[in-house]
Amino acid sequence: MIKTEITEMFGIEYPIICGAMMWLSIPPLCAAISNAGGMGNITAGNYDTEEEFRAAINETRKLTDKPFMVNITALPSIRISKEHHVMYVKVCADEQVAGIEVSGAPLDRAVGMEYIEMLKKAGVKLFHKVGSVRHALHAEKVGYDGIYAAGIEEGGHPLNDDVSTMILTPKIVDSVKIPVVTVGGIADGRSLAAALNLGAHGVMMASRFIATKECLVHDKIKEELVNRKEFETTIFGRSIGLQGRALMNDIVQEIIAIEEKGGGLEELIPLMGGDRIKKAWEEGDVQVAPLMVGQSIGLIHDVPTCADLLKTMGREAEETLNRSHNMIG
Ligand SMILES: Cc1cc2nc3c(=O)[nH]c(=O)nc-3n(C[C@H](O)[C@H](O)[C@H](O)COP(=O)(O)O)c2cc1C
Repeated sequence: MIKTEITEMFGIEYPIICGAMMWLSIPPLCAAISNAGGMGNITAGNYDTEEEFRAAINETRKLTDKPFMVNITALPSIRISKEHHVMYVKVCADEQVAGIEVSGAPLDRAVGMEYIEMLKKAGVKLFHKVGSVRHALHAEKVGYDGIYAAGIEEGGHPLNDDVSTMILTPKIVDSVKIPVVTVGGIADGRSLAAALNLGAHGVMMASRFIATKECLVHDKIKEELVNRKEFETTIFGRSIGLQGRALMNDIVQEIIAIEEKGGGLEELIPLMGGDRIKKAWEEGDVQVAPLMVGQSIGLIHDVPTCADLLKTMGREAEETLNRSHNMIG
């Protein structure tokens, strides 16, 4: 059994947290991960209205009595506004969810300091996903409870500082007093053990959870992740100031070609739209939309249940930590 400040803070069995996944981090997967002893995630951006968002929290609570977290992504978006962010925060405080993963702008800037106080009063733990020491220091200063240190390997939107997980984790561990969780490049027990050895108190992963029985994507997507290699993701979106890491495919190559020619948002947005991505996950066409995944796909070799995945990772991490211990002469 691995005990860290994260397992203690939330009373969970494994220091393994699911990251935000637009379209995919929804109640059935969230509850499966929490029931397996990790920390599930509901990504608030999936819900346009307060009713839908509350319904998702209630649905998850019917499926699990274990803690889970909510992600609030405060990045530039056509669909999700500041009013949505305020609504998400108020509902999380009212529903007293276990914790919030914020990405993009920190909450004091996205919605205001008063909402950080509201969440703290409700007992909701606050974590910010950052890609730099300076952003970690800011989050600690305004009262966050922990940091997700996300390296350039991660799927989604890594910070354009482009620092890898291996460097970012110890840098942030050395810079803040609150617990740090490693994000990016994590998919098995060895990478969990490595993160703990770098000073982290847990890991967050997202791509690995797509290739599980409970993730509601088409089976062809899961097969694709098992078959693809660690070098088959790429960064795109740099020219519009919002870089993303996705599976290398036809549409991402088209996007990169448009960016290289100096094409603007009006050409790019139709290729990157949320509906296109949602349809691709559901229908299993791996070429028609940017599918955000990290380099961690190189470590995915099977499609287990969440319970089997976490059990295997926990055992492998313990074996790895013991092996390191036994190396001491
Ligand atoms: C399909 C997918 C969708 C994602 N959507 C979001 C999102 O909406 N907001 C966010 O902050 N991060 C998002 N991320 C990033 C993850 O939360 C996490 O930081 C990252 O994927 C970790 O790297 P890994 O996938 O290699 O484990 C997404 C990741 C994936 C794989």
